[in-house]
Amino acid sequence: MAELDQPDPVVASEIHLKRALGPFSLIMIGIGEIIGAGIFVIAGNAAAEHAGPAVLLSFVIAGVGCFFAGLCYAEFASMIPESGSSYTYAYATMGRFMAWFIGWNMVLEYLVSAAGVAAGWSGYFVSLLHDFGLSFPAAWANAPLAGTGFQHLHVTGDIMNLPAVVLIAGLSAFLIVGVRESAKFNGLMVLTKVGIVLLVILFGLPFVHTGNLQPFLPPNQGPWGKFGISGIFAASGMIFFAYIGFEAVSVAAQEAKNPRRDLPIGILGSLVICTVLYMFMAVVLTGITDWRTLDVPDPVSFAVSKIPQLKWLVPWIDVGAIAGLASVAFISLYGQSRVFYSMARDGFLPPAFSAIHKRFHTPHIGTYVTSGIAILMAAVFPFDVLAELVSVGTLLAFIAVCAGVIILRITAPRARRQFRIAYAWFVAPAGVLVCAFMMVSLFLSSPDTLSRLVIWTAIGLVIFAVYGFWHAAPSKWTVANEE
Ligand code: ALA
Repeated sequence: MAELDQPDPVVASEIHLKRALGPFSLIMIGIGEIIGAGIFVIAGNAAAEHAGPAVLLSFVIAGVGCFFAGLCYAEFASMIPESGSSYTYAYATMGRFMAWFIGWNMVLEYLVSAAGVAAGWSGYFVSLLHDFGLSFPAAWANAPLAGTGFQHLHVTGDIMNLPAVVLIAGLSAFLIVGVRESAKFNGLMVLTKVGIVLLVILFGLPFVHTGNLQPFLPPNQGPWGKFGISGIFAASGMIFFAYIGFEAVSVAAQEAKNPRRDLPIGILGSLVICTVLYMFMAVVLTGITDWRTLDVPDPVSFAVSKIPQLKWLVPWIDVGAIAGLASVAFISLYGQSRVFYSMARDGFLPPAFSAIHKRFHTPHIGTYVTSGIAILMAAVFPFDVLAELVSVGTLLAFIAVCAGVIILRITAPRARRQFRIAYAWFVAPAGVLVCAFMMVSLFLSSPDTLSRLVIWTAIGLVIFAVYGFWHAAPSKWTVANEE
């Protein structure tokens, strides 16, 4: 059975404070991190440039991969309820090096995600200002770099993405003052975005015109990923971003009242709800307007604005997207500071990352570092470059978690699993395969993502060689068979 060392007093007080989340709250956390830039920003480009109306099938492929991974996360979360999530699972099953590797990739999953989602948020913010007749100078609302990779990045002449910077700075201030203080605000943002998504579906469905959905699968135009079957696959790699977040429920392990039972409910419940919403959104988005026109920074409000009877909904969509993306960025920043915290306590990072603010009881130094880097990235990098990096990093984490389930079935088949995957010998390898497939799709449609991942990994290796290798303690978790 999994066992945890005696927690230190600070953590103990946090555990006491935070053991307040039941299944409903955990599902809300999952939805809070899932619905964001993926559906409000990426889906438009995926349809317009890669799959057409068949983007619906891309949503299905990404959803299936995430469901397999979600089951694996649920099994682990019921065995090892610890806030390090995939990093801790990798440490318990694959040793120090893999723990660092996955933890390092989780920086992409959370920190870079916060920066990317903030950059996407900026588009909707400027659009909302526009709804009210206000304009924001374009040079101050766009990244000064554009392009598809480090080699192809070029200077655009814009100065910086100022709204994204202000968003991250504001959310970080909330985080430092206290998570509890922000929880209600976050709940409100989640309700707002789910409400808006439901409004778009309910009011949009009657205007779906089957003519817009023809041809359902536009023929391939030559290059890999430009429509046709390969387009569906390329779009599934992009759409994967929309599903990221259900695993953030496992980061809240130390806040849950009954983590072994409720984390699986939170992970799978939020995933299933969002998958259903996404299917409907995909049909509405491509069914109410010409999908070729959807490659814009705010595709949902753009598509709805094309229906004269629904123009009243547009400012509300902007509000929903602004609330929704802000909640994703918020939980990403929160998740990153918690993962840094776990890694520092294990010795992979300097102890400053696990330092707790005396008054606010939050890991303030880790939060400053997280926010500082996220602010720099959001200011200068465009959304798509960041989003692809987030997706590959997260896919690697998912693959590791699915592989970890297989390893534990071999090394500890009789360990207590409060949530036990049925057909694990199918589900876990299938999770590895579908996630690896989406990763390859991303590399094929954007080869620079691979070089960026290599550079990222090289930086991580240097930090490990210089610091973690010398300081990391053995994993606190041991998973063993029950007698
Ligand atoms: N799933 C999150 C989003 O779409 C990361 O913004």
